[in-house]
Amino acid sequence: MDMFCIEGGVPLNGTVRVGGSKNASLPILAASLAIQGEVIVRQVPQLQDIVTMSQLLQSMGAIVETREDGSISVDPSQVKSSVAPYELVRQMRASVCVLGPLLARFGEARVSLPGGCNIGHRPIDLHLRGLAALGADIRLESGYVVAEASKLRGAEVDLSGPNGPTVTGTCNVMVAAALATGRTVLRSAAQEPEVEDFARFLNAAGANISGAGTSIVEIHGVRALHEVCHSVIPDRIEAATLALAAAITRGDVTIQNAPTTHMTSVLNALSLIGVPHDITQDAIHIRAGSILRPMELTAEPYPGLPTDCQAQFMALLATVLGESQITDAVFPERFMHVAELVRMGARIRVQDNSAIISGVAQLSAAPVMASDLRASAALVLAALAAEGRTEIRRVYHLDRGYHAFEQKLNQLGAKVQRVRDETMAAVPRPHLEFSRDRVPNT
Ligand code: UD1
Repeated sequence: MDMFCIEGGVPLNGTVRVGGSKNASLPILAASLAIQGEVIVRQVPQLQDIVTMSQLLQSMGAIVETREDGSISVDPSQVKSSVAPYELVRQMRASVCVLGPLLARFGEARVSLPGGCNIGHRPIDLHLRGLAALGADIRLESGYVVAEASKLRGAEVDLSGPNGPTVTGTCNVMVAAALATGRTVLRSAAQEPEVEDFARFLNAAGANISGAGTSIVEIHGVRALHEVCHSVIPDRIEAATLALAAAITRGDVTIQNAPTTHMTSVLNALSLIGVPHDITQDAIHIRAGSILRPMELTAEPYPGLPTDCQAQFMALLATVLGESQITDAVFPERFMHVAELVRMGARIRVQDNSAIISGVAQLSAAPVMASDLRASAALVLAALAAEGRTEIRRVYHLDRGYHAFEQKLNQLGAKVQRVRDETMAAVPRPHLEFSRDRVPNT
């Protein structure tokens, strides 16, 4: 296992480029199962989650090739199996995105339930409710969701849940409806840019979907989806994390290939905190001064502030004098990073689904442990600002969602070293196996 050693206190300076979106790529790759013909997806980031999705597709018989230009081709013509096994699904929750495509293509799917997750309780009842509304017969068998439908029929589907709409659930139901007979209307659909990109991909393959990116999506079913080539959108969460890295080190950084129109809530929050920035069409120039303001923020479904940036904002606000508050309305228990930030001198307490942050003048280095993908990003940010040398263990969480993150930060002047963690290597294997069972899947 790798760990990061970070020498903090260096203001970041320079230019960095954002890669393709992980959360756009995953459902698109999964949906290739429903397509008759070759699928080429461009700008796919080189991440562990993408490898896991490729393995899942290959386990079903798809031919997956990663090309030198960063694109991935999927030939689903030889797919024989409609089973997504526990071994792969437990490594990555987004594996559930194969449910809709498999059902649409084979009339059946057997997908393991994802199980526990470090960012809170994450059911898939809305995915199932949506597919059932299209006529699927759904049951649970030995930890697996078994979905069957001799024919999917268009329907009115309401995807609202107690914490808002579901992103991957909207994608699952959208692809099934794209191949159903007749008209489907999705109400309370997730409006995330990744959902809109997903619909753009399906439409390029011959689907008839309108309204994606709003809460009401209309889908007229077609007989088949054909070969397609699609470039995914840039990753707004990576762009936001880099912006927050610039802010927390009070740096001067230009972030290129940033999907600025998808980042309004993040950029507004930065303005309110007092982080000046200029925006051009696809670049953000952050020039953070030393005096920032405490703030009350709430993570919400898009177009609200993304829950996937909540931990990184918390790291920033931990360095801003005064009292801030962050509430997570999407994953109310997503505060695993708080205890580790506290180890670095942050003053944060959790109250219900909020964290109250009393900013300190200086964070200090400490050995810390990453607990999930975005939590690990928050720890990296805190370490960049802290005095001294921070060791962050279990950075495999970070690698699931950020490609060559330490290289991008070092290019901006940071001092981040990736080293082999001999301590963790010495941990007896059964413990490691246990901890991997709890790998969260954002
Ligand atoms: C996606 C993102 C993840 C992000 C999350 C919220 C991908 C691959 N992952 O995850 O990075 O943090 O959106 O923006 O795109 N819920 C239910 N029932 C369901 C499904 C969800 O109650 O059937 C709840 C969840 O527990 C959560 C909320 O709805 O409280 C939103 O979850 P959802 O949008 O489904 O998250 P994912 O699609 O899994």
